[in-house]
Amino acid sequence: MRKILVTNALPYANGPIHMGHLLGYIQADIWVRAMRAMGHDVTYVCADDAHGTAIMLRAEANAISPEQQIANVQKEHERDFAGFGISFDHYDSTHSDTNKARSQEIYLKNRDAGNIAIRPVSQLFDPEKQMFLSDRFIKGTCPKCKADDQYGDSCEVCGTTYNATELENPRSTLSGATPVEKSSDHYFFKLPNFTEYLQKWTRDSGRLPVSIANKLDEWFDAGLADWDISRDAPYFGFEIPDAPNKYFYVWVDAPIGYMASFENYIKTKRPDLNFDDYWKKDSQNEVYHFIGKDIVYFHALFWPAMLEGANYRTPTGLFVNGFLTVNGQKMSKSRGTFIKAETYLEHLNPEYLRYYFASKLSDKVEDSDLNLDDFIQKVNSDLVGKVVNIASRCAKFINKDFDNTLSTTCVEAELVQSFIDAGDSIAKAYEDREFSAAIREIMALADRANQYIDEKKPWALAKQEGQAQQVHDVCSVGINLFRQLAVYLAPVLPSLAEQVQAFLQLDSFDFASRKTILLNHAIAPFQPLMQRVDPKAVTAMVDASKDSLAAPAATPVKAEKKKEKVAEKKAEAKIGEAETIGIEDFMKIDLRVAQVLDAATVEGSDKLLQLTLDAGEAEPRNVFSGIRSAYAPEDLKGKLVVLVANLAPRKMRFGVSNGMVMAAGNAEGIFIVSPDSGAKPGDKVS
Ligand code: MSP
Ligand code: ZN
Repeated sequence: MRKILVTNALPYANGPIHMGHLLGYIQADIWVRAMRAMGHDVTYVCADDAHGTAIMLRAEANAISPEQQIANVQKEHERDFAGFGISFDHYDSTHSDTNKARSQEIYLKNRDAGNIAIRPVSQLFDPEKQMFLSDRFIKGTCPKCKADDQYGDSCEVCGTTYNATELENPRSTLSGATPVEKSSDHYFFKLPNFTEYLQKWTRDSGRLPVSIANKLDEWFDAGLADWDISRDAPYFGFEIPDAPNKYFYVWVDAPIGYMASFENYIKTKRPDLNFDDYWKKDSQNEVYHFIGKDIVYFHALFWPAMLEGANYRTPTGLFVNGFLTVNGQKMSKSRGTFIKAETYLEHLNPEYLRYYFASKLSDKVEDSDLNLDDFIQKVNSDLVGKVVNIASRCAKFINKDFDNTLSTTCVEAELVQSFIDAGDSIAKAYEDREFSAAIREIMALADRANQYIDEKKPWALAKQEGQAQQVHDVCSVGINLFRQLAVYLAPVLPSLAEQVQAFLQLDSFDFASRKTILLNHAIAPFQPLMQRVDPKAVTAMVDASKDSLAAPAATPVKAEKKKEKVAEKKAEAKIGEAETIGIEDFMKIDLRVAQVLDAATVEGSDKLLQLTLDAGEAEPRNVFSGIRSAYAPEDLKGKLVVLVANLAPRKMRFGVSNGMVMAAGNAEGIFIVSPDSGAKPGDKVS
């Protein structure tokens, strides 16, 4: 029996699980379930990735402690994973004592082995927030093309990359203050010490997909550089031993979190397991990390180097998934395709998605598309139309006419045996992570099973005199074929498999259990197993995804919708009650046509867009507008809007807003009021 430890990438504790994340988690879970079904001893752990500046600032914005912040999010993550049937043995947090101890130990071993260097680094420092700023918290004017509002690492307008210190008129996006340059000591992991080791390691058979190993060669050619592993206080993370006010950069303790989660699993639930059996240098047990393609660099270079430097074993292999698009495009909040796990679960059966992903996944690092029309079509035709249908066609006769018991003989032993035999190549496809191939084989079997039943027509036989035995035999074969399919689909559809196991009254649903044909076997009354996907539910899910982003992250979508409905009712009532005003009052409002010159999202706000408007004046106007839930910045550029031009300027956390853009709002969304074409910026509206 192989002993295998499997991990998934640890999701950041500052946002919800969405469809993109789920691709990798569902992939790993299917593999884990399949390997367990083949009789291997698999331990499957994960954790929230809890450290870093982003989480610290998110907690600050929510006016809670980072500990509270990560506890809240972890609860949501665990709920979502459970909702999708992800069968972790243990789910932890990187913010644990175990991880702290393990991280410090691995660091110290590397330090003692001569793999750490210290040298000063000059960086921009926010004098108001009293903290060093990473590139994403600095904006300024591009030194090359002079475009304003560019981040600290590169210019989105001309593509130049530069150091944040080269930006003109830099400002901190956290406080608005002008940053000053300041030097402090940083700790570096000497990655070049491991160049030869890693070049060999990445080419070991089975470690990495070949396409990734090729990509890594480019990095080797360019030469590996020292890796900056320290961050100055304030930072939410673990202190570096013997280095006051220095913290491990989040990517140091994150992968060590794999080990620590496993260790906490042993401590809390499985004292019979031994940490060293899995992690000591010469361990024969296997360790696999499932990760997305964006985090290969960390897992294929830093991580094995850190482990090797501390005399631990390295992972047996990295399994890398591509990225998910929805309806052929990057997930988008304005299109309603940024679908959270939670929103999906409110509308649809999780097993639909597990099946759809399985039908797309292979061992290649390829991007996958969740096309919602294809999703409906595939689930309905394969699962409901082909698989579940077999059982419902046969079970009713067994239940009704044959005392819930299958025939004592199998009249199609060869057919059933061919289904059993097919299990070997299906199992191999699972093991090789060729899930789409496994699904193709299973569906080909389903087609054959349906063909058999179509030929024999038990429903017609049942109406003929003296054919009872035939009906019994045919339906028993049908149920046996269905059982094979359900065993093969179990890693993908665990909840369906559980229902089928109960219906067939079987003790085991492992791959090996399929080999005995069910004869003279009692079954339970048939219950409907799976409903068709309702296209209306899919539409509702997309609509809710458009809504949900207007809600603050912590508020459950349902509660938010209810609030909207109440507000809507109140607004309706108000229209009738509104106080009348004279024309002179109305004339006080200076309404003007304006054109959107530029629109941008606002760092730190999920409601606002920052608009630059041409209102026919000498200078463009800056207006913050709470329309982010309904409009993507790129959709607004060039649009004509109506501006309340003489509204008193309002100072906001992000800057001063000069005026207000008019929009209608209801439970479905927000709708900007826009004059017909022909109107010009500055035209008076009355
Ligand atoms: N915290 C790090 C991982 C640390 S592992 C020691 C991280 N977190 S994440 O929340 O951003 O991503 C978690 C996983 O989801 C990663 O494997 C990432 O590649 C994957 N995905 C995030 N968005 C994705 C898609 N749109 N499509 C497919 N996978 C995606 O990275
Ligand atoms: Zn530029």
